[in-house]
Amino acid sequence: MGRILERGAELRAVGRAARDAFAGEGCVLLISGEAGIGKSSIVAATRAQLPPRSRLLVGHCDDLATARPLGPLHDIAPTAGEPLRHALADNDDREALLTELREELVGHPGTVLVVEDVHWADHATLDVLRYLIGRIGELPAVLMLTYRDDEIDADHRLRQLLGAAARSGRTHRLPLAPLSPAAVTELCRAAGVDELGVHATTAGNPYYVAEVLATGSGGVLPQTVVDAVLARVRQLDPAVRAAVEQLSVLPTPAERWLADLLLSQGLSTINAAEERGLLRVTGQAVTFRHERHDGPWPTGWPVVAGCSWRHRCWPLCSTATTSTRPGWRITPRWPVTPPR
Ligand SMILES: Nc1ncnc2c1ncn2[C@@H]1O[C@H](COP(=O)(O)OP(=O)(O)OP(=O)(O)O)[C@@H](O)[C@H]1O
Ligand SMILES: [Mg+2]
Repeated sequence: MGRILERGAELRAVGRAARDAFAGEGCVLLISGEAGIGKSSIVAATRAQLPPRSRLLVGHCDDLATARPLGPLHDIAPTAGEPLRHALADNDDREALLTELREELVGHPGTVLVVEDVHWADHATLDVLRYLIGRIGELPAVLMLTYRDDEIDADHRLRQLLGAAARSGRTHRLPLAPLSPAAVTELCRAAGVDELGVHATTAGNPYYVAEVLATGSGGVLPQTVVDAVLARVRQLDPAVRAAVEQLSVLPTPAERWLADLLLSQGLSTINAAEERGLLRVTGQAVTFRHERHDGPWPTGWPVVAGCSWRHRCWPLCSTATTSTRPGWRITPRWPVTPPR
């Protein structure tokens, strides 16, 4: 594992929680942030924060089309005691499973039970977590949950669990911020890569920074990052995706008046894209958070909706803009087809 920068406060909070748990005061830690922001890196660094007799159990939820029921508990089973393993093997006795899990934690004070990526948790896992959250004050344990906060909308099934955590009075939230320009510069220098443009290109996302450094490509986004950004675009509703595709033709930052003109349904269409960390919208402009500075994006980007849209874009790029803003002319990033 490389150096972890700018996470001192979070790691100290983890250490404090583990010590309190050892003394019998359990709590829930919610570690959140977009993909690649460093949630798993906090989990990996947790071991070094634990008091000597604490233990760390880590289970994972996976991005599977068919969720693995109780997958995270099966992950920790090999390190758990026989009664819990037995209860897990007996699929039908949910009551026994909950009891044995509680006993497992009571029997090992100072356990930090991590469940990673709970935005993908199956219903059975969510039930078990709710059970633990409801009793966390009586358990000598830390329940640490990580999740991508930009992938859960208001109706997501994780919301109920987050609500229960909020009501428990024993929950600490640790939302992870992007790395600062100074931290990105430090990582670039350590890797011997020119730091120019790297913070702007990656928006301080540590995964993107690591990828840029691995390819030694300075301010240029490598294809792995482009694929990660495109995966986020694909998760958008069709209308939002279409709006993002339309905006992608403009050189950004796109001034607000221009974005307003382009998006016939209004800027609210792109709220979801902003929430997912793809765009940044201010009073003045709309910007893509991750931009290549060396010309067009590679394969797959922009996903501008074919010729028909490019055709419709033409008036905007020529007459409409000059009449709205005399003397103003857009040079689109991609070829725009003039009407025949
Ligand atoms: N604080 C940090 N300082 C430096 N590098 C970091 C930091 N946090 C994470 N990284 C780097 O970024 C990469 C991605 O981090 P990590 O896997 O922890 O992200 P994540 O939030 O768990 O992403 P995902 O949601 O995809 O699971 C790591 O491999 C690590 O190299
Ligand atoms: Mg992770």
